[in-house]
Amino acid sequence: MKDIVETIRTRRSVREYTDEPVSDDDIKFLIDCARYAPFGSMQQPWSFLVITNKEIMHMLSESGKKGMISILEPIKNISKQSYDYLVSLKDIFYNAPVLIIIFGNKNVLSSVIDCSMAAQNMMLAAHSRGIGSCWIGNAMPALMDEKILKELGALAGYKAIAPLIFGYPKGKTIMPERIEPEVKWLR
Ligand SMILES: Cc1cc2nc3c(=O)[nH]c(=O)nc-3n(C[C@H](O)[C@H](O)[C@H](O)COP(=O)(O)O)c2cc1C
Repeated sequence: MKDIVETIRTRRSVREYTDEPVSDDDIKFLIDCARYAPFGSMQQPWSFLVITNKEIMHMLSESGKKGMISILEPIKNISKQSYDYLVSLKDIFYNAPVLIIIFGNKNVLSSVIDCSMAAQNMMLAAHSRGIGSCWIGNAMPALMDEKILKELGALAGYKAIAPLIFGYPKGKTIMPERIEPEVKWLR
């Protein structure tokens, strides 16, 4: 078993998956780990939607990609690489076997932060069990569409915050370069 620092340092966003499904027990384990994230406002403002249905994932992929392309279209000259990459993508979920969307209570001020903390817990817990993951921001245009939210049966009063895919990695994933951040000490 990896220690926590090794888990943090070796987790990668995985964009190629085998066909092996993630078991229901592992999915429950990931959601259980999410619950242990810190939360502000004395509330635990998250809810989880687990999607393994390929048709639903395809619909979300098409809609998310279309929405993202229309956002990037006006600025495609300055973010050409992202734009071209998105256009080339067949499936924004990289054929992963499961998508878990973390929804946050709209009435809780710290929802976005709390759900992001929960997301990181899930991604690290997954990695500790050999399960790959990736946060898919490209799904957000689809998840902000009221008609789609209704189709998904999303809870009223909650907004989508973290769309996360999980599955077993195929091959190795290269780590994007980590730069030295600006650090200031006041002693
Ligand atoms: C808010 C957020 C949105 C992201 N959206 C996408 C996405 O739509 N597609 C994708 O392939 N990766 C996405 N990523 C993954 C990042 O590209 C990745 O975390 C970054 O390149 C660093 O690589 P690493 O996670 O392997 O360390 C997203 C990450 C975050 C935190």
